[in-house]
Amino acid sequence: MRALTYDRYTDASGLEQSDIPVPELPADRVLVRVVAAGLNPFDWHMYRGEPYFMRLQEGFTVRERRTAGADFAGVVEATGSEVRDFAPGDRVFGDIGNGALSELAVARVTSLAKLPEEISFEIGAATPMAGLTALQALRDAGGLTEGARVLVWGASGGVGHLAVQLARALGASRVDAVCSGRNAAMVRALGADSVFDYTADERPTGPYDVVVDTVATASVATLKRMLAPGGRVATVGGISRGRVLGPATVAVRRLASAKLQRTDARMVMARVAAADLDLLAALLADGRLCPVVDRVYPFDDAVEALTALEGGHVRGKLVVRVGDA
Ligand SMILES: NC(=O)c1ccc[n+]([C@@H]2O[C@H](COP(=O)([O-])OP(=O)(O)OC[C@H]3O[C@@H](n4cnc5c(N)ncnc54)[C@H](OP(=O)(O)O)[C@@H]3O)[C@@H](O)[C@H]2O)c1
Repeated sequence: MRALTYDRYTDASGLEQSDIPVPELPADRVLVRVVAAGLNPFDWHMYRGEPYFMRLQEGFTVRERRTAGADFAGVVEATGSEVRDFAPGDRVFGDIGNGALSELAVARVTSLAKLPEEISFEIGAATPMAGLTALQALRDAGGLTEGARVLVWGASGGVGHLAVQLARALGASRVDAVCSGRNAAMVRALGADSVFDYTADERPTGPYDVVVDTVATASVATLKRMLAPGGRVATVGGISRGRVLGPATVAVRRLASAKLQRTDARMVMARVAAADLDLLAALLADGRLCPVVDRVYPFDDAVEALTALEGGHVRGKLVVRVGDA
């Protein structure tokens, strides 16, 4: 079967289409025929092996050929003998960490949810990692409660544009956003009340109960000034091309600075949870969550798609069409 693979840490240009064996199906897992794969910065962190500290967990070298991609949507092809909740023919979506850019992928049942009939595979593939991250940033790290005033910083990217919509769905009374001016209209259309263009040095003033930050370009002092009493900053990611520690440097600096300035700043480490995927599926079905898919690439152009993603200015999500429904 066809897959986008790598046998050493590499940039996107070193990824290649390979013919690899169909993976074995353990008793507790599900084999999915992938229709669409959604792209996330996580994908390039994995195939580049950057920041380098990731290699402590992922291996100092790539010993066996790996398949890129984490998020996907498709149709269940077969189920292991212990699987009860899924059956061949089910439409599903999920986040499997790696192996999504492949005609067939093996998934744990805890990494999957059923994709509502009326939702396309492209939209399903665009949702899991960014949606889980946005949801957990707002609800868990941010502690969002009904009526909260929310700011999403980095609101035009994968996580940010879903955070704008999810903040509304979770009951925020006000949602403001920071992004570049070229994406302001899109973010406003997603439900943001005010949009601030960071390229024109526009700055929100608040007060906010929850700030979800995907870029970590503002200082803690700046964020502190815009927080309401009891407000929290949930930091999802940070812009840093440092190859050794990458965004971890930004995170450590921010946490240390927040401690000194008595500001409630928390890091988000998203986890794949079936119950949260089910919640995202319900929000997709009732229209409160609607990922923006900027472009769908054919499988042959997956490297071009990942190169565009690495550029860091994606509008919404990029999706690769892997196979037929
Ligand atoms: N902690 C976790 O569990 C977790 C999970 C998922 C993602 N992440 C991390 O979170 C970050 C965002 O992920 P993503 O999927 O949303 O990435 P993405 O889709 O690539 O979006 C990045 C966005 O950053 C914006 N941006 C770039 N430079 C900016 C600046 N100087 N100021 C403000 N915005 C700027 C861009 O918007 P404009 O084009 O409008 O500038 C772009 O839309 C990444 O670092 C990712 O690795 C962490």
